[in-house]
Amino acid sequence: MKEALPLFPEQASTIAPQVDHLLYFLLAVTTFFTLLIFCAIFYFAVRYRRRSEQELPPLVHGSLTLELTWTIIPAALVMIMFVWGAWLFIKMRRPPTDALNIYVVGKQWMWKLQHMEGQREINELHIPVGKPVKLIMTSEDVIHSFFIPAFRTKQDVLPGRYTEEWFQPDKPGSYHLFCAEYCGTKHSGMIGWIHVMEPADYQAWLSGGRAMGSLAENGEKLFQQLACSNCHHLNDQGRCPNLVGLYGQPVKLTDGRTVKADEAYIRESILNPAAKVVYGFQPIMPTFQGLVTEEQVLQLIEYIKSLGQRPGGAPVGAGVRETSIESSRPVKR
Ligand code: CUA
Repeated sequence: MKEALPLFPEQASTIAPQVDHLLYFLLAVTTFFTLLIFCAIFYFAVRYRRRSEQELPPLVHGSLTLELTWTIIPAALVMIMFVWGAWLFIKMRRPPTDALNIYVVGKQWMWKLQHMEGQREINELHIPVGKPVKLIMTSEDVIHSFFIPAFRTKQDVLPGRYTEEWFQPDKPGSYHLFCAEYCGTKHSGMIGWIHVMEPADYQAWLSGGRAMGSLAENGEKLFQQLACSNCHHLNDQGRCPNLVGLYGQPVKLTDGRTVKADEAYIRESILNPAAKVVYGFQPIMPTFQGLVTEEQVLQLIEYIKSLGQRPGGAPVGAGVRETSIESSRPVKR
């Protein structure tokens, strides 16, 4: 049942009631002090009004008790707000490791969403109830913001960067999705729906459109088409770094720095290969800027992620034997 003019949006995620409790607390504190201050103004105006032209008010000296009271109580209150808010913020910034990953690409003026299994959606997202969902988001043009009021989550979506947002829906239903960052003429039309489904319905929905192949499979095709495989052999014999087990590992660079091979690093290495050159390699890779879309970059990233783990988590650049590579490759050839 939707009210005509609801004061608060529906609560449909695990975090929603917690965000609301903090908001109620802030509302209660501000209402209390607003009323207290207004009442005090009126009371003092009447109580201490000047009663005659000759009247001189008595000299008032400070009161230590009063000073301490109106310092300590507000200080304690704002500290409660700070600690409570920071605790909630940290919680909302840390997706559980078992979260369902979904890629989001924003562009003027639509949301493109891709499931790991290959399903693509526009302005709609189907997810199962009761499972944490992590969105990995980027933009093709300007800044957008992915806002689901019923989940109480909002995160800016930036060009050239990956941002994350996570939530755990706990109530099946359809919820509004908005772009919450002014992004041009049709910003107000950059809206959609989040469909939270029962797990069985979700499985049925998932198996509905598998024809296009998973992200990693499409990434592998692209890897061949773009001839990445000519230099990046899936062993240490190629002219370019071995990508097996790269994801999540520290990478040593020619300039002496060590960076983590996360989504942002892989994306940058595709679009601007000279930015971070792996130690022991030449900067011979051409840029793929303009040759691949943000969605294709995501497919390549998923393919690289699917290349498995290096045994023992050996850093990139260290030798890996051929046999262990084959056994750690879940992708069919
Ligand atoms: Cu996209 Cu506003």
